[in-house]
Amino acid sequence: MSNFIREELEKERKWIDTQLSLVCSQKPKNIPSRLWESMVYSLMAGGKRLRPILCIKTAETMGADRKEILPMALAFEMIHTASLIHDDLPAMDNDSLRRGKPTNHIIFGETLAILAGDALLAWGFEYPLFHLNRENIPAERIIKAFSIFSQAIGPSGICGGQVLDTDLQSYQDNADFVLRIARQKTAILIQSSVTVGAILAGAPALVVDAFEKYGEHLGLAFQIVDDILDVTATAKVLGKTPGKDAQQEKNTFVTVWGIAEARRRALEESERARDALNLIDMPTSFFQDLAIFLSERSC
Ligand code: IPE
Ligand code: IPE
Ligand code: MG
Ligand code: MG
Ligand code: MG
Repeated sequence: MSNFIREELEKERKWIDTQLSLVCSQKPKNIPSRLWESMVYSLMAGGKRLRPILCIKTAETMGADRKEILPMALAFEMIHTASLIHDDLPAMDNDSLRRGKPTNHIIFGETLAILAGDALLAWGFEYPLFHLNRENIPAERIIKAFSIFSQAIGPSGICGGQVLDTDLQSYQDNADFVLRIARQKTAILIQSSVTVGAILAGAPALVVDAFEKYGEHLGLAFQIVDDILDVTATAKVLGKTPGKDAQQEKNTFVTVWGIAEARRRALEESERARDALNLIDMPTSFFQDLAIFLSERSC
């Protein structure tokens, strides 16, 4: 199983990379060159491309053509990359390594990094709204998809989660608080990549609900492992600075549970994710295998 899912993810990652490089191969007019350079630097720096892969795979499972969903899938990577550029800023995690390369502000300076993040965030709305084919995807599906997408990014999603993660006055030293942070800063975007894929493909409510549950538990498992890897992995493997959470005295799943318990909980979340899909009558082996793979991942 492990080899099969690894190969599948690698194949999909390459496909997303190719599609992204096509989009980035020509600067749209009116974007200042330096801003474009800074946006493309982080967008094309690498990464697992998990969120666009999830969006495409979910929609394909519902019978959609991947090319129809692609603009939305790429939007997830634009938003995710924006969140990483901002996460690395000196005012946030103050990181100098991301995706194996110097962080955006190290290369372009803080002002451009802030604006490249803003630009990618807005582009994540502009790009799919201009490129989704409205003849094939009904407007009500697009509106529903964008409601979920925007909620995942805004004050009750990534922005809120990042505040809880960084703001000392919000700090609480308990596992529920760490779960809340993880849900908002990480799990909601992962969750919305599957629900949005399902909605755009016209999936029935019961199926969307099942994927919504799946995505939430997958997203939690993902952040639990991210916290574990911060303690156990190397910069070479991670492409980012390990030991950063402890250095910044972050409240993480490792600080509240310890590594062994965090590992157990990651497996538990992965199991919950898989259970959610047992309710639907569709081929879900990719998603089942992915949940196991991500909860055991080493990078
Ligand atoms: C890192 O996300 C930030 C978190 C939400 C934990 P990824 O681990 O998906 O980063 P890339 O896209 O592969 O670089
Ligand atoms: C980042 O969480 C979450 C978002 C970017 C929204 P982390 O701060 O744990 O991510 P890494 O470890 O720097 O990738
Ligand atoms: Mg952070
Ligand atoms: Mg960080
Ligand atoms: Mg982390």
